[in-house]
Amino acid sequence: MERRRIGILTSGGDCPGLNAVIRGAVRSAQKLGWEIVGFKDGFEGLLPPGRFVMLDRHKTAGIMPLGGTILGTTNKGHFVAKVGAHGETAVVAEEVIEQARAVLKGLRIEGLIIIGGDGSLTTAQQLFEAGIPTVGVPKTIDNDLAATAMTFGFDSAVACVADALDRLHTTATSHRRVMVIEVMGRHAGWIALYGGLAGGADIILLPEIPFEYEKIAEAVRKRNEDGCLSTMIVVAEGAKPKDGVISAHATASGEYRMGGIADLVAANIQPICDREVRVCVLGHLQRGGAPTTLDRILGTRFGIHAVEMIAAGKYGHMVSYQNYLVTDVPISEAVNRLRLVSPEGQMVKTARAVDIDFGD
Ligand code: F6P
Repeated sequence: MERRRIGILTSGGDCPGLNAVIRGAVRSAQKLGWEIVGFKDGFEGLLPPGRFVMLDRHKTAGIMPLGGTILGTTNKGHFVAKVGAHGETAVVAEEVIEQARAVLKGLRIEGLIIIGGDGSLTTAQQLFEAGIPTVGVPKTIDNDLAATAMTFGFDSAVACVADALDRLHTTATSHRRVMVIEVMGRHAGWIALYGGLAGGADIILLPEIPFEYEKIAEAVRKRNEDGCLSTMIVVAEGAKPKDGVISAHATASGEYRMGGIADLVAANIQPICDREVRVCVLGHLQRGGAPTTLDRILGTRFGIHAVEMIAAGKYGHMVSYQNYLVTDVPISEAVNRLRLVSPEGQMVKTARAVDIDFGD
């Protein structure tokens, strides 16, 4: 008798923990006696003739500590469902969906696990609405997906920021400098807030709390007067001054790419803060490397639950982490709604309680 067969793919920007999800899904599917097909390079692997690899526990042995994804990924191509500065929804072309349907049918795929962020889950929802049985696994270092308290990859990114701050702190202190560290996160300040807190930042600039250059400089001058030898400023790539705009540019391919705010902060406070100011942009360091233990465990649990959802025929749903338990919600509840830092929330209050300034 033919064994039941499911598919899995990773889509959008990579992040630590993707391989833990793949491994978890493969192991639990194999336990049920199913076969599992891994599609390569995100949704693009679904295009004819289909680019895929048969996965099993031997092929996924030893991948837990690996960053990135063994299947490859892309945030471009034929299945992009989010475009522009604020992620406006685009519709995946009908003929592209039909091509994917034919490939999945030819391979006898009963259910497809899609591991991705807001854009990829929007594609998953569109495929589901077109009758393709999909389940979603939420992924992003930005931790900005609604309907889940946490995504894997975030903790590893935060660990990277904290480690960078530890390193930059010693050199900044030796030279009595101000260091401005730019971190990722798009429109959400979670990485900056958690990374800044864990790494002992003095000033954190978030997209959710517009800042004033004079206020930042004032906080630095006060620290100088108090005898502090250095000041560490963490700035989220999506942060902006009051009445200002986000630092970003459109690429030749029409992509909206954020970045550059750290240089602006440095240039604007340098003349008024009585200290030498230097910049460090952490960039893709935050997305690479081995996942933390938390992300390995979360990823494994998410992969297992995705298989359970297929076993229960719960398509159009996405794995969700709530109150320390793994559960699921309709994908439609999770997409198109960013989960942002609340300026009045407990984490911001915690930061203010340890004298972190937000430049507001
Ligand atoms: O969404 C994850 C993320 O790392 C953002 O924090 C960042 O703005 C973006 O992706 C970078 O994307 P790319 O790798 O395409 O430059």
